[in-house]
Amino acid sequence: MDRRRDAESDKGELAVAQTKRIDPGARNLNELSKPTERLHVAGAGDDYNEQEAEQTKAAISSVYDMIAATWNLGDLWNWGFHDAKLEAQVEEILPGFTSFGSDGFSELLYFHTLTQIPLGLDAYRDKRVLEVGCGIGAGLNFLSRVTGAAQLSGVDISKAAIARANGRYSRGEQLTYTVGDAENLPFEDGAFDVVVNVESSHSYPSLGRFFDEVARVLKPGGYLSLVDALTDHRADTFAKAMPGCPRLEWLAENDISPQVKAAVRKRMAPDSFVRRTFAQQRMSPVKRTIAQHGLLTALGAPFTGDASMSPVAKWSRKKTGLGVSDKAPVRSYRHYLATRVS
Ligand SMILES: C[S@@+](CC[C@H](N)C(=O)[O-])C[C@H]1O[C@@H](n2cnc3c(N)ncnc32)[C@H](O)[C@@H]1O
Repeated sequence: MDRRRDAESDKGELAVAQTKRIDPGARNLNELSKPTERLHVAGAGDDYNEQEAEQTKAAISSVYDMIAATWNLGDLWNWGFHDAKLEAQVEEILPGFTSFGSDGFSELLYFHTLTQIPLGLDAYRDKRVLEVGCGIGAGLNFLSRVTGAAQLSGVDISKAAIARANGRYSRGEQLTYTVGDAENLPFEDGAFDVVVNVESSHSYPSLGRFFDEVARVLKPGGYLSLVDALTDHRADTFAKAMPGCPRLEWLAENDISPQVKAAVRKRMAPDSFVRRTFAQQRMSPVKRTIAQHGLLTALGAPFTGDASMSPVAKWSRKKTGLGVSDKAPVRSYRHYLATRVS
């Protein structure tokens, strides 16, 4: 029942997004991936170039507009996290959270990100939480359910993602979604107690500008909890940008690659939720071959080292504009925790 209702609501949102949101000139994923390739391979971002940064952001928002219009493999866009104890903890709070329209791995990545903040779940009742790069909103909705936070705001550069988030999850003043840029957040100074950032920072031309903005919108003593996949170049960018923001004190950095790889492997398994849902979609055999390799790449398969590097896989990755993952492989998946110093 629930799944059918989800599918129907997806179809409606898809039609709206397709007719109103997508720039018809921006359909070639390969073209759109060039600015991201500069970001990950060539080292753009060391010297901030306004024009290049705007091009990168426009390309990224177009890609996510397209994904927001068509994605129906669950409502989260991250590689996930697997840990049986953490899953049992969430199961106590939200029984059955892995049973309907989700395998739960992406929610667990959010839960892990949350539990690294030194606040108990009960402490959120009077707290304001911001998610930067909230995608289509399901992660923040999940956080609202596990914390009961007073107010949660999501911001994302993709208009279609925010339209879908608002259409599906917004709840009056308590849960809101807004279009905006991580490097220029549309919020007042000191508005939030907590900022979460899940698998989004790798797309920002300047991590330094993002950290400055997070420090500005956080209350003194507030927390930033961030997880992301890092190439060698991005790891270097992090190491340089972290000390560059004096209003953020870094409290922890942890490699969570094993838990993320475990989730990706479970998703790649033959009878996984993602594989079964994908198999139900109607498409030609050629499109299926391309889409399947694109999907596995997008879900982090190359990070596990198990992904096929057959000529077909290579060709279809190139076709889908995801070939950048071969040029700039992800080396680790990390969590970072910072607090805003006064
Ligand atoms: C991999 S998705 C993750 C979405 C969500 N956090 C989740 O885990 O489902 C990355 C998100 O970051 C957003 N994003 C990329 N660059 C951004 C920017 N400069 N400002 C705000 N959002 C951005 C994208 O539009 C996309 O929705």
